[in-house]
Amino acid sequence: MSKVETIYLKDYKKSEFTVKTCDLVFELFEEHTQVTNLMSIIKVDKNCKNLVLNSVDLELIEIYLNDAKLDESRYVIEKETLTVLDVGDEFKLIIINKIYPQLNSELEGLYKSGNIFCTQNEPEGFRRITPYIDRPDVMAVFKTTLVANKERYPILLSNGNRESNFRLDDGRHGITWFDPHPKPSYLFALVAGDLGVIEGKFITKSKKYVRMYIYTDKGNESKCKHAMKSLKEAMKWDEDVYGREYDLDLYNIVAVDSFNMGAMENKGLNIFNSTYVLADEDTATDANFMGIQSVIAHEYFHNWTGNRITCRDWFQLTLKEGLTVFRDQCFSADLNSKEVQRIEDVKALRERQFVEDSSPTAHPIQPNSYIAINNFYTATVYEKGAEIIRMIYTLLGEEKYRKATDLYFQTFDGQAVRTDDFLWAMSSAGGVDLKQFERWYHQSGTPKLKVDEKFDGGKYTLTLTQIVPNAVDGSAQKPYFFPLKIALLDESGKEIEKKTLIVSKEIEEFVFKTSAKPILSINRDFSAPIIIEQTHNNYAFLMKHDKNSFVKYESAQSFGVETIEAMMRGEEIDEEFVKSYGHILDSEMDLSYKALLLELPSVLAIMQREEVVDFEPIYEAKEKLQKHLALTFKEKLLEIYTQNHKPASKELDAKSIGERSVKNRCLKLLSALESDEVIMMANAQYNGSITMTDRVAALDILENSSPEFSAVALEHFYKKYKDDTLVMNKYFSILAASHRDGTLDRVMALQNDDAYNELVPNLVRSLIGVFARNYKHFHAKDGLGYRFVVDKMIDIDKINPQMASGLAGAFKIYEKLNSVNKKLMKTELDRVVSEPSISKNVYEIVSKILKID
Ligand code: BES
Ligand code: ZN
Repeated sequence: MSKVETIYLKDYKKSEFTVKTCDLVFELFEEHTQVTNLMSIIKVDKNCKNLVLNSVDLELIEIYLNDAKLDESRYVIEKETLTVLDVGDEFKLIIINKIYPQLNSELEGLYKSGNIFCTQNEPEGFRRITPYIDRPDVMAVFKTTLVANKERYPILLSNGNRESNFRLDDGRHGITWFDPHPKPSYLFALVAGDLGVIEGKFITKSKKYVRMYIYTDKGNESKCKHAMKSLKEAMKWDEDVYGREYDLDLYNIVAVDSFNMGAMENKGLNIFNSTYVLADEDTATDANFMGIQSVIAHEYFHNWTGNRITCRDWFQLTLKEGLTVFRDQCFSADLNSKEVQRIEDVKALRERQFVEDSSPTAHPIQPNSYIAINNFYTATVYEKGAEIIRMIYTLLGEEKYRKATDLYFQTFDGQAVRTDDFLWAMSSAGGVDLKQFERWYHQSGTPKLKVDEKFDGGKYTLTLTQIVPNAVDGSAQKPYFFPLKIALLDESGKEIEKKTLIVSKEIEEFVFKTSAKPILSINRDFSAPIIIEQTHNNYAFLMKHDKNSFVKYESAQSFGVETIEAMMRGEEIDEEFVKSYGHILDSEMDLSYKALLLELPSVLAIMQREEVVDFEPIYEAKEKLQKHLALTFKEKLLEIYTQNHKPASKELDAKSIGERSVKNRCLKLLSALESDEVIMMANAQYNGSITMTDRVAALDILENSSPEFSAVALEHFYKKYKDDTLVMNKYFSILAASHRDGTLDRVMALQNDDAYNELVPNLVRSLIGVFARNYKHFHAKDGLGYRFVVDKMIDIDKINPQMASGLAGAFKIYEKLNSVNKKLMKTELDRVVSEPSISKNVYEIVSKILKID
């Protein structure tokens, strides 16, 4: 890689020009698309002479300035810019250019997903469509006319409302769309294709009638029902909880198979990865249904937190993403189970964000610099960002938080703002000083909190010490301000004290009067995104008695981790843990929650606690513990399985989902016995169940325990679903995650499967991405796992750099690896950075992992 340019927040400058209106005409042909872009532009900085437009890979045809054609001496084309020389204070500019969406494999800008034309413009895709001031603080009113062959592309969509249509005599037709809301270019979208559709309606609280349409490939219409239901739920929730109404007459969603991310909130025209739209019980798992509900809601919520109020610059990304993730988490918690949702959120944070935060790619939720902005749609900006908003919510309380968000919407509607503006609204309406709190936006790494307890003579003293890691550049960072929910329990589990402590100093001391030494329940609900360092042996007690569903879960996890760590040191299995596990099995509780409590800590969770990571000892100890639990509780596990196994049921209510979840957890644990009995059960479940949840769970067990049965079931599965790409994703994932010998060879061979296609990100993620998280085979000591993934990363980088840098995420663990794995990984990663044509996306991540300059 030659020189790379780093972009700094401190270099932010206001735009010298602004675009008032942008009228676009797209003529979509089979080989190319012609774009006519008419902009009315105003000079903001009167000292400025030339207009610089972003322009990437565009073939310029001609330019008109106030209706006069410009000759070539009046503009300059450089690698990523088009500069128009000597422009006035207010002018009209027409640019006509050509693009090649059919050849666009990066899936940014205008591209084709199968036979559908679609766009992805966040963060910087619009500059690949037409020359523009492509930054979020330039907001214009867009009018868009699409022209295409009527037979092939009967459906033509863009943002806003449909204005007019016309027919041409060459078989083409045209439709004009108008979006009255000024918006940044990243929210622009268009779609053209021959699509099926379902329709819905919603009446807002002020009695406005909104029509909703979900478009998909023909034949999939019936799979859009759950998405439509979710959209209505989201609209209602945002009215009830945030007082936010939808602001157009029309809400369109289009599902496409080729999409780099999950979904995109384009104004009035969301474009979705089909994974987050299409579902029925035969082809989608319970987790898929939940995922659809939350992603549909997330993109809908952006209409206020993102679109109406957008980001001044991309360093502010967490302003819209952290806040919107927090909103979608609360939505899912309200509609489903609060306790399960909170645990799932924390699990996701730890599995992805904590790993990032302890690596050289750590960054604050508001970064200071980037090379490729696409790399900053991270777990830190999103999930940690959501935790920061949640802390504000906890500090303010429900009522004041609502006042503060009202103030935020009222003050900044229609503007492109900064996280500081959001914090201003929170602190002024919330009546809380957030000055020190701001450090959460500017510092990186996960703070630890050391807990010391002392009891004497009716006085319980809690001493908390913040251990704040250094920044990636080695500089020291300062203590944080955060809410810490705690309770003190007596020996029967009763809460004798319940409080939200405010921690702000490096060392804090809290004193309580109690008659006997209490048991501490700390960081309840995970009130702050920190790591608690505590040495005690109360886990069994808390697992049994704590009324806080999060701490109960957390104690089970911590106890599990400690048990496994002790086994890794060669100690016997801690029977106290086994007993506590048995107690959970015997207890009555919500079944989805129970399934979570019964889940042993992930290898990743254990690994995070180690200074130096070696995978084999971790999963060997974990497997041994699993087997021991399965043996000890065989009868009980079988009983729970039998009670909850209802193969003919495909209901999606909480109870049915809970039943599937807990019985599949039991079956998975039982599979550690490697007995024929359990294999037969899994096989019967595969053949007899009517839900995808049950079939996938059974397949996974068969694949990992019986090559013979697995082969038969997989063949059946393949035959049945080979034409359904969303189901094939599951097929590839099961095989790529397999712990069986020979997995790497099978993954390599699967690349030639008819159902596989390297151009489709979902498939790459299911096969290569999932393999890169298969710690057993990816980290194999022959180094072949690393070599394979790096080979793929280099290949795929040529097709789609964003997809390739996604694969680079699997290497973020580098620094913590044992010397053998580290050396093997380094050899492969060195190949990446010395690849002359490597993209800046991949270069940025890999060079940071290897700490190159
Ligand atoms: N605005 C993003 C989509 C996006 C992601 C654009 C990355 C450009 C680069 C969208 O709102 C989003 O956050 N989507 C998530 C799913 C969401 C539920 C967290 C995604 O695509 O993963
Ligand atoms: Zn988002």
